[in-house]
Amino acid sequence: MAFISSGYNPDKPMENRITDIGPRHYAEFYPPVIKKNKGKWLYHEILEPGIIVHVAEGGDELYTIRCGGCRLMSVSHIREIMEIADKYCDGYVRWTTRNNVEFMTDTKEKAMSMKDDLLARKQPGGCYKFPIGGTGASVTNIVHTQGWIHCHTPATDASGTVKATMDVMFDQWENMKLPAKLRISMACCLNMCGAVHCSDIAILGYHRKPPMIDTEYIDKMCEIPLAIAACPTAAIRPAKVELPDGTKVNSVAVKEERCMFCGNCYTMCPSMPLADTEGDGIVLMAGGKISNRIDAPKFSKVVVAFIPNEVPRWPTMTTVIKKMVDVYSADANKYERLGQWAERIGWEKFFEKCELEFTHHLIDDFRDPAYYTWRQTTNFKFT
Ligand code: HEM
Ligand code: SF4
Ligand code: SF4
Repeated sequence: MAFISSGYNPDKPMENRITDIGPRHYAEFYPPVIKKNKGKWLYHEILEPGIIVHVAEGGDELYTIRCGGCRLMSVSHIREIMEIADKYCDGYVRWTTRNNVEFMTDTKEKAMSMKDDLLARKQPGGCYKFPIGGTGASVTNIVHTQGWIHCHTPATDASGTVKATMDVMFDQWENMKLPAKLRISMACCLNMCGAVHCSDIAILGYHRKPPMIDTEYIDKMCEIPLAIAACPTAAIRPAKVELPDGTKVNSVAVKEERCMFCGNCYTMCPSMPLADTEGDGIVLMAGGKISNRIDAPKFSKVVVAFIPNEVPRWPTMTTVIKKMVDVYSADANKYERLGQWAERIGWEKFFEKCELEFTHHLIDDFRDPAYYTWRQTTNFKFT
């Protein structure tokens, strides 16, 4: 396409440059009923899965319809969202912290006709464009990352694993029949962009092979001390290497029995790549939460050490996730999050009930704090 200038002058890059203006103020985008009743809400009710009403002190009502969003969306899809917002919501719409889309309106009639319209919209392949749900004790949207769409450090894909999981969880999305809400999150490497470390169930990309070292280029591409300092287990040390042509170059050596494949060195140093088709896959974690309800927030714990990347639908992974959700759903008490349930029944019972194999990989061996994760009591149950 022929070049079309925005008015920016590359010969005078700093001329007419606007900077540090920050985001637009959110109040510019309030629907009128929200602007009017801000700070005066009395109570709310979930009318049905995906539909919430908030009632204000003066009696004003606000109906919200929550729709699943795929997060990675085209401009045409966003335009369709705008078209719906124009039709029913005076042009207003919002996105949630889990990347769902919420349409808000001030009467029940408008909300219900919008609901029918939303559910009638489908992709050519058959998927709902705007599935309604994600409220209350349900499985809402999966917080996820870039994967093979855009990042250079992933060990798995984000959008693919998430679509496969939500298809299996769809019944839990559009119903509110769990003991408590269940958050699933996904990160494609253990940088853990997002919420995997604090979710009820977490999908995590994992490597199983140490990095390769591009000795010819490493000293040209990398600040070698940074790569050395990137390693949590001190597996990397500086080394002089002789190339086939006899030149001596500065490089690194990796003590492979100390490497646990985190990939941090590659993040620091492009000459230490480690992605591998067979080696890479998925770790599942469970039992995290961020709210303070009843007990304190928890980290999620590793419960499955490895599941291969089975492109494009990850059937083993989705089967294990579904099993965990089903067993939790049948066994936990009302209001009990997955981690609270696992801690009450004991993790040995969690593994037994979910039929998960307990392998040595799950036993913490990282520095002094590992000790506190072992059992220093005779309290346990036979499984
Ligand atoms: C019906 C009789 C008894 C009852 C109901 C009873 C109950 C208990 C209870 C509830 C504990 C606390 C356990 C815990 O918090 O983990 C305890 C601890 C203990 N009891 Fe008893 N007990 C009885 C008899 C005895 C007798 C006869 C002895 C000694 C001869 C004894 C020695 C101890 C000791 C040393 C502890 C501390 C154990 C520890 O902290 O590891 N108890 N008992
Ligand atoms: S989790 Fe890792 S691979 Fe995924 S987007 Fe973040 S840094 Fe990239
Ligand atoms: S992958 Fe992680 S553990 Fe292995 S050498 Fe690199 S930084 Fe160290």
